[in-house]
Amino acid sequence: MTKKSLTSQTTIFIFDSGLGGITIYNYIKNIFLNINFIYLLDNKYFPYGSKSKNFILQRLIRILQKISLYHDISLVIIACNTASITSLPELKEYFSFPIIGVTPVIDLAIKKTKNKVIGFLATNTTLQNYKIKNKINLLKEKYIIKIISSPKLVFLAEQKLLGYKIILSKIKKIFFPWYRLKIFPDTIILGCTHFPLIINELKIILPKNIKFLDAKKYITYKFKKIIKYNKNLLDIKKNIVYYTKINKDIGKIKNIFLKKNFHIFKKLKT
Ligand code: DGL
Repeated sequence: MTKKSLTSQTTIFIFDSGLGGITIYNYIKNIFLNINFIYLLDNKYFPYGSKSKNFILQRLIRILQKISLYHDISLVIIACNTASITSLPELKEYFSFPIIGVTPVIDLAIKKTKNKVIGFLATNTTLQNYKIKNKINLLKEKYIIKIISSPKLVFLAEQKLLGYKIILSKIKKIFFPWYRLKIFPDTIILGCTHFPLIINELKIILPKNIKFLDAKKYITYKFKKIIKYNKNLLDIKKNIVYYTKINKDIGKIKNIFLKKNFHIFKKLKT
């Protein structure tokens, strides 16, 4: 894979079903300056958590085809575990620009756990994926893996960022099955980019000293491998947000992105 030439404009396209990809953007936005970011939230079909592989793959192909008509993309970041785990290999085959994506950091959790009890939070589609299922089955001999798939958690995280009041007891209820465990997970995989948005709430309702792991560091490593830093690159920031549906929250969504240095808002017809 060739690094972007020093003279060309660097445009990173970040994709998520909703606002979860912001947790990835927050992390990478300051690594290199003078990069244009385009963020697309597919709010027309949010959430992706129970959608089929075929639906997600076709949807992503359609979106990437459209976006690449308007923009010269340097790198695509699928900032959605559900979309990456179902579609990443096929998307890489299909498009000529580099595509990377976040996936649940199971191997990292194995390295970090001391009590060998790992919690795994992800969407249903992610957890039902054969690669994830196979991996969990292999690990079951040596580790206890406690799984929670909750669309409610994704919804609550999205609501929190939109400024709605979220009630802690609703999150607590989702974790009820874990409160009966003899040994609580000392390591929890945040296998959905929405979950870091409610990390403070999780820290309040769960026991202390749990390590929460997500794919931020991994994506940064991949990102640096593909995008070359060029401090001479002259560029006026023109970050764009695309959404796929106008709904009652669109004003709030725009405000969130305005604070994050996005100033252009467009609806993508798909
Ligand atoms: N943020 C997404 C993920 O990382 C998906 C949330 C959803 O749309 O259900 O899996």
